Order: sequence, then structure tokens, then C-alpha cells
Amino acid sequence: MVKRGFLCSLVAGLLFCAPVLQGQNRPGTISGLVRDESGSPRQGVTLTITHKDTGTKGAAVTDNQGRYQIPNLALGDYEIETALSGFRVARREQSLRVGKEKAEVDLTLEAGEGNRSGRIMPEAPNDKTPYDEWLEKLEIPVSQGLAVEDTRKIEVKPWKETGGLGAYFRLSGTQFLDARVEELPPGASLKGHRHLHEENIYILEGKGYTMLQQESRRPQKIEWQRDTAFSIPLNVFHQHVNTDAKNPARFLALTNFPFTLNTFGNPQFVGGVEYAFRDRYDAEENFTKLSTNQGGREQIMNVIPNVKQSVLYQYESRGVGATAMNVRLGGNQVLGGAGISEIPAGRYHRAHAHLNEAFIYITEGEGYSLIWEDDFKKRTKVDWKEGSLVGVPKYWYHQHFNIGEKPARFVRYTTSGYLSRLGTNFQTGDVPYEEENPEVEKLFRASSRVIDPVMEEIWKKKKTGSN
Ligand SMILES: [Fe+2]
Ligand SMILES: [Fe+2]
Repeated sequence: MVKRGFLCSLVAGLLFCAPVLQGQNRPGTISGLVRDESGSPRQGVTLTITHKDTGTKGAAVTDNQGRYQIPNLALGDYEIETALSGFRVARREQSLRVGKEKAEVDLTLEAGEGNRSGRIMPEAPNDKTPYDEWLEKLEIPVSQGLAVEDTRKIEVKPWKETGGLGAYFRLSGTQFLDARVEELPPGASLKGHRHLHEENIYILEGKGYTMLQQESRRPQKIEWQRDTAFSIPLNVFHQHVNTDAKNPARFLALTNFPFTLNTFGNPQFVGGVEYAFRDRYDAEENFTKLSTNQGGREQIMNVIPNVKQSVLYQYESRGVGATAMNVRLGGNQVLGGAGISEIPAGRYHRAHAHLNEAFIYITEGEGYSLIWEDDFKKRTKVDWKEGSLVGVPKYWYHQHFNIGEKPARFVRYTTSGYLSRLGTNFQTGDVPYEEENPEVEKLFRASSRVIDPVMEEIWKKKKTGSN
């Protein structure tokens, strides 16, 4: 059966597309390498492809090796186009035929109009990182691009390392954070393990518990069910258990494993150090119940029993009527920027950009995100619904829209606190509603089933220039 993926469309003559990542059963794949004129691989290049007959589009972003891959393509003739600020568009054509379903298309970028005007962009490394090498040997499916349509349904494969099944997401070419889905068969336990990276867990389906065992302390259970979110305290031995004998359990894990592996260069070390960080976790009686409000939206917790039922606080600076909660889970230092956000029906967030890589998991609702680097015209539209995962590239603008009749809620995982403590916080700030491109309003009007009168007011004031 062919399921609808993140399909792309042409709206008002502009490109709106998103990666087609799963469940398509289409045989074609176009992959390749993008370099600049000096021969260096370029990270963060957006590749868009257009099926010439149908106009169907797909997209991907190059990783730190300058590589991209666009799978699940129908056979036919394609045009491939690059987009990277400061470089001219490079184009190539490629046909996929029976017997030649996979094609390597390499492109070279020439410097062109535009520059980064002081933006801090890392050069793409020429050598593979330990993380890249680890990823190449991974035995479970790896999705790339900007989003995964439904993490609850994406295909998982047996993963010897965990004793369960898994699918891995390296969205937006991240070098710092990663995400994966793990599945526990009915009644099964995964292998117990520990690691020096921080790990946030979000339960997608099922019922069970995670056993924490700190050295010379009593074991403790974190009981979970669908929509429970928690963090594994640093380096604590832990084991996930599915208590439902009839149904599988599935969770999403978001970690800073790439950063940790690239720091130490050795996965055995990252998973094999016996040290108890008692400042983070000492088997405290109230560990799972801890909930301390530090004022406003800032909360310290270890376990969020049900993300959908969490009380959120005003967050007008992100969008009119927006609410949110920032949560420091499990004493995390690097993944300190977790949070829950909600957008009321008929409204949307302001666009913004930041240094941090971010993953957004949609817990409720329906909508889309616009994501672009410097040039709004080269934006990508990513449609989402409950179960979708969106990866926001560092430095890129992003803007989230609720098109449904109910509030849209998502959890976000970033490194914001950590990077600002290092003094490297790069924040371009919000794009005020008054300054956003008129296409934002047009697209929202065409997409949303509800338009809140407050948005009409904002758009009207913008046009008349009144305050
Ligand atoms: Fe773990
Ligand atoms: Fe953001």
C-alpha cells in the first residue's frame, strides 16, 4: 500500500516541499556529494528534486560530509537543484529507470551573490568524525532530511545492541544531537546499559517502566505510559521493560550522543565508565515526583507523567496566545533546553533562529513548519501531525503554524542553556509579525481551517501601518 508521506506542492509559484521519508515503497534513490569550488564538502546545502512529469518534489540537506540522500522516489526524470546562501544554484538532471533505480548525483557549488554577513557558520570538516564512522556501521534504518512523518509507525529493525528494534534519525545533518525510536516486543526488556551522554525519553506507545540502578543504591522504577517524558540521569545504569504482554512499547530517545562520541572518540568508553554522578542522581525517594517551579515557565522535574496534561504558562514573546514550559529534566547540563509548547487554533508562532540544533516532537494537533536558512524564498514547508518529528538545523529560521481546530502541542529538545553558558549563544531573535513576508499570511489563510480574529487584527495593522 502506498501511504502518503510528506508530499510537496507548488503554491503560488513557490517551492514548498518536504522529505518523503517513509512508507512509500518507491524504488528510487538519488544520493550524492556536494562540494564547493575548492573541493571541500559543503554541509547544510538544501537539495530539492522535482519529478518532471508529476511535479512531485522531495528534499534533503547535506550532512557534515557534504552527502545527501533522497529515498523512496518514483521512477522517472528528475531535476535536482541546490540552495545555499552565498552560492549560485547548481542544477542537474537525472533519470531513474528499471534496473537503474539508484543514482549518484554529485554537484559543485560556485560562489555567487549573497554572503553570510557575519553569521557564524562552521566549515564542513574534511575528515569523518567518530560519530560519522559509528553511524556508517549502524544496523538499523537511518532517516535523513528535515522531518519524519510518524515516528509511531516508522519501520523498525532488530538492533542487537539494545536487544529490541530501532530506527535512527539524523535529521538536518546534526553533529550535536540525535534521535531514534526504540521498540520493545510484548513483555520484553531491553538490555541494561549506561552512558556518558544525556538522554531524554518520550513514550510513544505502550506501558512499562525503566529501572534505574545507581551504584550501591536501591534500584528505582520510572513508571511510564504513552506521553510520559523523562530523562535518564547521567551514566546511571538503566533498563527499559515492557509490562504489556500483548502489545509492543515504543519510545523516542533524544540524546547528545554525537557530541559525546566526538569528544571521546570511543563508543566503548562512552558506554563503559563506572562513575556515579551522585550530584545528578542518588536514588532520592522523591526523584520521580520532583516538580519545582522556578518562576514563570521554568520548571525542574525528572518525570513528566503526561505531556498532554502538563500546565503551560504564557509565552507571548514566541507568538500571540502561545504557552510553554521549559523543563530541566534529570539534572541535564547539555540537554538543558527541553520544553513543551502550545499554539492555539488559528494562530502561529513568530519565526526565529538560534545556534542550537533542535528536535521537535508533535504530541497533539496538526500544522506545518516553515524552515529556511537566510532567504525566505528558499524555504521548506514541513507538514506535521501527532507523531511527527522535526529537526531544525542550527542557525536556520523556523516558524510553526497550527492549522487544526484544536491547540497544537509539541515537546522540544535543544542545547540552549549549555551553549549560552559557553558564551557561544547566537540568537538572531524573533521576526516580528509586522516584518514577516506577506506570503506567510497567504499560506496560513490557504492552509488553516481556523483563522483567529487576533491574527486578522495583526495582519490589518501591518497593512495599514498602525500600532
Ligand atoms: Fe540509554
Ligand atoms: Fe526554535
